[in-house]
Amino acid sequence: MTHGIAKRRVAVVGASGFTGKEALRLLAQHPHVEVTGVYSARSGEASAAETYAGALREPVSASLDLDALGTNDAVLLCAPHEASATLVPQLLESVPLVLDLSAAYRLRDAAMYPRFYGFEHPAPDLLEERVYGLTEFAREELRNTRLVACPGCYVTSVLLPLLALRDAGLLTDDDVIADCKSGVSGAGKAATGVTHFASVHEDFRAYGVGTHRHEPEIREQFASDRVYFTPHLLPIFRGILSTLHLRADGDANSVREALRTRFEGEPFVSVLDKGLPAVSEAQTSNRCVLGVASHGDRIVVVSCIDNLVKGASGQAIQNLNVALDLPETAGLEPVHAAIPGWR
Ligand SMILES: NC(=O)c1ccc[n+]([C@@H]2O[C@H](COP(=O)([O-])OP(=O)(O)OC[C@H]3O[C@@H](n4cnc5c(N)ncnc54)[C@H](OP(=O)(O)O)[C@@H]3O)[C@@H](O)[C@H]2O)c1
Repeated sequence: MTHGIAKRRVAVVGASGFTGKEALRLLAQHPHVEVTGVYSARSGEASAAETYAGALREPVSASLDLDALGTNDAVLLCAPHEASATLVPQLLESVPLVLDLSAAYRLRDAAMYPRFYGFEHPAPDLLEERVYGLTEFAREELRNTRLVACPGCYVTSVLLPLLALRDAGLLTDDDVIADCKSGVSGAGKAATGVTHFASVHEDFRAYGVGTHRHEPEIREQFASDRVYFTPHLLPIFRGILSTLHLRADGDANSVREALRTRFEGEPFVSVLDKGLPAVSEAQTSNRCVLGVASHGDRIVVVSCIDNLVKGASGQAIQNLNVALDLPETAGLEPVHAAIPGWR
């Protein structure tokens, strides 16, 4: 019991991966959560050694025991998409709240899964039921759900400003260019020919134009097929910088003011008074930092997040807090709040 709040029991599945470790790092400082178990795909000591030891409170469990997981208040599922697609319905038989970090339940349209993810969706009914957990736009729904599909990392950086401007009625056009760059941790821990150090170091490339899985997710949420998304691989470990080129009814000042009005009081979204943010302003925090500039007849919005925090485990914990009626910033305290003049 901390400050009169009983500790909630939370297990992490996929704890030896990048997002799972990040979840453990954050949950280790969460005053109202007890990590009851950590699980990965493989068994034995290899997983234990790889799991972020500083955050562990309990021994590593070798294999998933679905019945034992039922004693938890929630499970954070940090597994690959296809594994999550199968695990979610099994977990829901005993666990009251599942927060899935994969894309397995993000898209409403089951027909998109064979096309973009290479598998038939095993539980299309749950695509109707799940809550899409972009926290700032989903608080009411989050309080009444058992399944949260946490948004993609690039998608979070794009949707936060885009949905705010759409809701403010400021966009004159749904044609948006989203030019996005991510650190290599966005691809998970398994190195590929493109993501290993020798390929990434001192290099920079675009990839997945017209085929990246985050494009249908952005388009579905923004309800427009005219968002053109180009991801790039940055030679850094963590962080996303997304540059949005859009058309708005007003200049940079009015767009900035609209964003500021929408996110006033939000603990994790900051709008800069002037200038554009750098990735370092968001790295390791749950912040999304926004900056606005004019460019001819377009507005440029730059949005920075940490892909492993606001783009994954941080947002999942923010959703967990809302869903379990805990203080929303618990375990995610915004460090910048203490810095004068940094909003
Ligand atoms: N990386 C990011 O920035 C990011 C952002 C948002 C969302 N996501 C999504 O979050 C999920 C995890 O991403 P990640 O980057 O952390 O991946 P990762 O580094 O590749 O880790 C994957 C984790 O899942 C475990 N796993 C694999 N197959 C499993 C199975 N069948 N059952 C249970 N656990 C299994 C792995 O265990 P072993 O170690 O034993 O193999 C490992 O712990 C993915 O769906 C990814 O798309 C990632």
